Amino acid sequence: MDYNVLKGTHDIIDEEAYNYSYIEEILTNIAWLYDFKEYRVPVIEKSELYQRSVGEGSDIVRKEMYTFEDKGNRLITLRPEFTAGIIRSMINSKFLVTRDLPLKAFYCGPVFRYERPQLGRYRQFNQFGIEIVGSNSYLRDVECIAFGYTALKMLGFKNLELRINTLGDKFSRENYKKALVNYFSKHINEMCNDCKERLKLNPLRILDCKVLDDQEIIKGAPLMKNYLTLDSKTRFENVLEALDIMGIPYIEDDTLVRGLDYYSDTVFEFHYTSKNGNNYGAIGAGGHYSDLVKELGGPVLSGVGLSFGIERLYNILKDDNKLQKKDKIDLYIAPIGNVDINYIMSIVFDVRNNGYSCEINLESKSITSSIKKAVRANSKYLLIIGEDEMKDGIYTLKNLETQEQLDVYEPDLIKVLDALYQEEEDKYCDLTESINELKDEEDEEDEEEIEKE
Ligand code: HAM
Repeated sequence: MDYNVLKGTHDIIDEEAYNYSYIEEILTNIAWLYDFKEYRVPVIEKSELYQRSVGEGSDIVRKEMYTFEDKGNRLITLRPEFTAGIIRSMINSKFLVTRDLPLKAFYCGPVFRYERPQLGRYRQFNQFGIEIVGSNSYLRDVECIAFGYTALKMLGFKNLELRINTLGDKFSRENYKKALVNYFSKHINEMCNDCKERLKLNPLRILDCKVLDDQEIIKGAPLMKNYLTLDSKTRFENVLEALDIMGIPYIEDDTLVRGLDYYSDTVFEFHYTSKNGNNYGAIGAGGHYSDLVKELGGPVLSGVGLSFGIERLYNILKDDNKLQKKDKIDLYIAPIGNVDINYIMSIVFDVRNNGYSCEINLESKSITSSIKKAVRANSKYLLIIGEDEMKDGIYTLKNLETQEQLDVYEPDLIKVLDALYQEEEDKYCDLTESINELKDEEDEEDEEEIEKE
């Protein structure tokens, strides 16, 4: 019996967890900027929810769901994505009929897919996403894309690739599916077994096939854009025009169909290749859905959404050295020699109660060990308390960044820390002020130059 982590799952620990929180915090703050409200939905749902929404023809439902029978003989699935659960929650809460529309939700948490693990592909991974439900305006699609763009910019991504396509409305897709069946039927014997099944269930899925030998045939398939109704064509043109006006660059990608069945009209994916050439697949993806809400028992309302894969965002930021350094602690306390450790613990308690993060070396009384541990803990200050210091009540406080040190009378410790941090904040404010003044001067010079020209 071994207790290794399960294939396709991973522990997120310490610095990595710190950076996951950092990514999630940035995304959450941007969600607030766009006026999204947080939804926390269960990890388990009735399997049928995903069969109806993600679709019987999708790889997720056919092969990747973690489904089991619970003790009450119900078929339960660990969520393979959030959108269906969010819509279910909006319907159950009656918010779609009692609140102003659209509802704007954001969410974050683990999802589960039984996929073949590889670079950037896990069986348990984390998503952060948004859904805008109850509006059919093409500008909501644009808003969703703009959210993704702002979020990735704020995280420090520079050369983003936004791929976009339209799957058209129901009529466009029916016509297109017929054309695909017609085309692929002639080649299906040369294609993989999955594609044979996809042809029966949903021929659009064939366009998403990753089998190398099938690619030549897929390249020759009819293109969606030639089967769009006038409404769908206009809608897509409107989306692209709005993106142009907002200055969001994109690549039109005829082959983009997405792996979930609920989409109609706009679909999109964000891609990025890290500096060392790693490509983890789409880092975020989404699209518009017009029938999903009704399909799940709600009113006839459209929606649009986007989800990011946090693991992929993290891996790319790590490759490109854009992660936050480990969190700092404010103070490390080093008891040296034969000192009253219970009393020193009460100082630690007091420091923490005053809002300063603090750690103490309880495992060794050696100064060398304490300094090493304080540096590794990334502490800003080190407080040394030896036998003599305890007698006098005066301790040495060392700034580990500047190596400056000062003597602190014990009852003043918190006041001294307050003063040191205040001094730093003042310096920071002065610096920001000078930078702003410099910028203002530069702007004035620029304006003068423009006037002269
Ligand atoms: P999705 O494309 O299946 O869409 O997943 C969204 C993102 O999750 C992907 O772009 C990728 O970053 C990440 N992801 C997917 N599979 C894995 C995996 N096995 N390992 C690591 N990361 C992965 C959806 O889930 C839709 N619900 C998006 C959406 C929201 N559409 C409308 N609203």
